[in-house]
Amino acid sequence: MQIYDPAFARVYNARWAGFAHRVAPLIFDFYEQTPTGHEHKSLLDLCCGTGQLAGYFLARDYRVTGLDSSPGMLAHARENARAHIEAGQARFIEGDAADYALDAPVGLVVATYDALNHLPDRAALRGAFRSTHAALVDGGWFIFDLNTRAGLLRWSGVNVQNDEDALLITRGVVVAEQDRAYTQITGFTRQESGLYERFEQVAYNTMFDLAEVEAALREAGFHRAYCARVDALDTPLEHPESESRVFIVAQK
Ligand SMILES: C[S@@+](CC[C@H](N)C(=O)[O-])C[C@H]1O[C@@H](n2cnc3c(N)ncnc32)[C@H](O)[C@@H]1O
Repeated sequence: MQIYDPAFARVYNARWAGFAHRVAPLIFDFYEQTPTGHEHKSLLDLCCGTGQLAGYFLARDYRVTGLDSSPGMLAHARENARAHIEAGQARFIEGDAADYALDAPVGLVVATYDALNHLPDRAALRGAFRSTHAALVDGGWFIFDLNTRAGLLRWSGVNVQNDEDALLITRGVVVAEQDRAYTQITGFTRQESGLYERFEQVAYNTMFDLAEVEAALREAGFHRAYCARVDALDTPLEHPESESRVFIVAQK
């Protein structure tokens, strides 16, 4: 299990929430148009991180559970959703996406921004599919994105962000024979005192074969599963492996 440490969680909350903000309305609109979406206003944000996608659904009166393995990320998610937690509409729990259970089923499970690429292997991914199938109502939807093999093979390189608040150096290393791409992020972030705190974060993405992913979803009990682009979630892609990122849409 990969843990995002507290210093990195602070940077993530301040700088990397854009993806969740962009995709949340598209996933929401897709789900709301389905019969299950009319009936079940409940979401599990799996690998919720700092909870920005959860926040979009909370603002639209959904009951939301966020699950993540990182206490540092969960602390920000709880702070961001404090009023909704106090109102009993939201909760954020620590757990492993590869093996979890909910006390009551939900209509929609979502895992965004490479979250399931963080699982170490196919066995863990299959565990996530089994757990998610059990967490859904009949007819419920599971929507998640994956970086494809083609996308991850382009990850090598160095990126530098440098401004008043932080200096961030991101290095991407692809180890194709391990089916892995690593990002090592070294950062210096400005504290309230004006001093800079240094952190190191290494995260990896596992490459998954998309045909195998679809087959594993069906094996876990989903009756349909296909790859799509986030702006056309109802349209299966003919050649998903040529994309750099796909959304996988599955229905129980
Ligand atoms: C790139 S972040 C995505 C966060 C959020 N979904 C978003 O869209 O911004 C990946 C998240 O997955 C979490 N994570 C990684 N492995 C996990 C696991 N096995 N179980 C639960 N959470 C995990 C990390 O702690 C991190 O918060």
